[in-house]
Amino acid sequence: MNPQIVVLDFGGQYCHLIARRVRDFGVYSEVVPSDTTADELKEKYPLLKGIILSGGPASIGEKGAPKMDEKSLEIGVPVLSLCYGHQLLATILGGKLGVGKQGEYGLTKISVNRKSMILAGLEKSETVWMNHRDSVVELPSGFSAVASSEICEVAAYENTDNKIFGLQFHPEVTHTKCGKKIFENFVFGVCEAKKDWSMQDFIERTVDSIKEQANGRRAVLGLSGGVDSSTVAALVGRALGKNLTAVFVDTGFMRKGESEFIKDSFGKQDIDLKMIDAKKRFYSAMKGVEDPERKRKIIGKMFIDVFNEEAKKAGAKILVQGTIYPDRIESGATKNSTVIKSHHNVGGLPKEMDLELMEPLQDLYKDEVRKVAETLGMPKELVWRHPFPGPGLAVRILGECTPERVNVLQEADYILLDELKKSGWYGKIWQAFAVLLPIKSVGVQGDARSYKGVIALRMVNSVDGMTADFSKVPHEVLETISSRITNEVKEVGRVVYDITNKPPGTIEWE
Ligand code: XMP
Repeated sequence: MNPQIVVLDFGGQYCHLIARRVRDFGVYSEVVPSDTTADELKEKYPLLKGIILSGGPASIGEKGAPKMDEKSLEIGVPVLSLCYGHQLLATILGGKLGVGKQGEYGLTKISVNRKSMILAGLEKSETVWMNHRDSVVELPSGFSAVASSEICEVAAYENTDNKIFGLQFHPEVTHTKCGKKIFENFVFGVCEAKKDWSMQDFIERTVDSIKEQANGRRAVLGLSGGVDSSTVAALVGRALGKNLTAVFVDTGFMRKGESEFIKDSFGKQDIDLKMIDAKKRFYSAMKGVEDPERKRKIIGKMFIDVFNEEAKKAGAKILVQGTIYPDRIESGATKNSTVIKSHHNVGGLPKEMDLELMEPLQDLYKDEVRKVAETLGMPKELVWRHPFPGPGLAVRILGECTPERVNVLQEADYILLDELKKSGWYGKIWQAFAVLLPIKSVGVQGDARSYKGVIALRMVNSVDGMTADFSKVPHEVLETISSRITNEVKEVGRVVYDITNKPPGTIEWE
């Protein structure tokens, strides 16, 4: 697959989102390193119709700030530059930057000052998302400013003869409502790109490249039941069939019915599915352990041991992982990006396994993964599952994780999800689960005093798990959940609702 639009990556957090927006129009786009030369662009991308320069965390002129091959501007395809790219391009072409007295961060009003090719169809006043301090104060000759904000005179510039455009703001983020129109203007109006991409194309192309990489060798995959590992299992399974061994390790800290669910979902597929019941091993390793970090470490290590044993047995040479794009950007894995947080995932297996990595979803966002899953015909229930942490229920059982306490939490958690599905709230919530607290509380049941366990309900709305708000679930739904849990789970006498946002709380309790 050859891209028509390439995005030069200057390390901006939203860089991949740019390619993503273009692909959403059905036009194939890829992100390439910012130092890709003009010759490489011409040679590797024969269908090239346009170049987009991304934003980035550096300041123009500072040591190590990324540059570009200026000859790329002479290839003869239109160029759209954003934020850092917009400033870089202006300086390359002879314009000047100034350090603003004040930066612009977040939602900002801009005025569209004149008829413009790149801003065609926009209102006179639009709200856009800005994130800068420096700005262009003197334009290169032949360019005109087409939009401004209160602080920034050149919020957008263009040279329609050479088809070069710059935007100080970020059209790729959803906060910039007019962003879609701007990309449409560039991709179709200016570059005259043709629609050539769909999820079906992605699947076919990826299946081909999986076959090519495997080249007859066996691959192994840790199947967690989450949407990423499930989708990658289905995709790699399509390419390799029985040459893929998918290992599901039942740690004993899974949700109620999880093993059956996995068997139902993957048992009929043409892959080698291995269900490993490691409950006993995990429970004995967790005996007497109460500290959250120790729990995570023990489970992570045990999981890797069990997985290693199975990978060896399978005789695999390749390790398939369901890594997606945000996992890489958050870990600072792309060239010019800064580390935001290290990805924590039990599925992140160690390098000493000496297996070659295969990560077919590494350029996709979660919602694109879900589209792939739907296109592959995976069941809706699997596609729209809430995220589930690697250490599982162990970080939702505060205190010691005995099999009896796991059972109590599984039952309460099952009721919670059942009621959310029945009331239609499951799909409106990003993540929901129950937590078993390490305390008991007094109550009255029948005519007698009771002294029983306490369950906390956690339901949050989020985009990526980095920040979250507690979900405003109606009291009636909460009431039904609470009364079912206290009636049906005999060890529980009280149910509370967690109303903490992230920050300051995390989503999980441990
Ligand atoms: P926190 O608790 O950090 O969670 O606010 C953010 C998101 O990450 C999930 N989570 C994990 N996922 N391994 C995972 O695969 C882990 O160790 C882990 N810890 C938290 C959590 O469920 C939420 O979706």
